[in-house]
Amino acid sequence: MKQSDFMKYKEILIVDGTSRENGYTKKLLEFFKSNVNAENVATFEAYKESFNFCDGCNFCESNEHCKFKDLDAFMKAFEAADLIVFTTPIYNGMMSAPMKALIERLQPYYAYFYKHNKTQKIEKRRRAIILASSGRDGEEALQYIEAQYKYAFSITNIEFIGSALCNFTDTSANVAKAEEKIKNILERMDLQ
Ligand SMILES: Cc1cc2nc3c(=O)[nH]c(=O)nc-3n(C[C@H](O)[C@H](O)[C@H](O)COP(=O)(O)O)c2cc1C
Repeated sequence: MKQSDFMKYKEILIVDGTSRENGYTKKLLEFFKSNVNAENVATFEAYKESFNFCDGCNFCESNEHCKFKDLDAFMKAFEAADLIVFTTPIYNGMMSAPMKALIERLQPYYAYFYKHNKTQKIEKRRRAIILASSGRDGEEALQYIEAQYKYAFSITNIEFIGSALCNFTDTSANVAKAEEKIKNILERMDLQ
């Protein structure tokens, strides 16, 4: 897909995996939103939603959808999005628990992908970015998280195009550096 094909898309979905309203990741998210001129911005707050965990029942292998209906609205927004912004604090070197639980619910997309000879269920190619915060350095953990996201979302037709980390929040938070990174990503995407 050509770069110009992405630019006409303006549906943004924020998949918010943070809990602290005054936390640093929310600051990055606000900065992102204040710099974006999009037609539609929808937000899914993983900590505030109550949804079932994937229990590995394999229902989706024969039915191509989940037996649980609680994420149907989310999946609709997820499939419609042109740009997806994932936010997470770095917890134990990983993404937050609700974010991981949400990712496990992508299993119907895996089932479809392998049942249909590695065909994407979601035809539209989309882009994604990650916004994260860490108490200490966090750079190495971010690399692991990026790799995990790339792996997990490979069956949802998503290309990861950048991440911004606000690190050292335990001592002297690197907010400006993270905001600069967000600006760079947005400039590359022509979304401002
Ligand atoms: C359960 C838990 C685990 C954490 N694990 C890490 C970690 O592995 N590495 C790190 O640098 N900071 C860690 N932190 C610190 C958070 O990443 C830091 O407070 C960050 O600012 C949280 O994001 P927020 O400000 O958006 O809430 C941890 C904090 C908690 C509560």
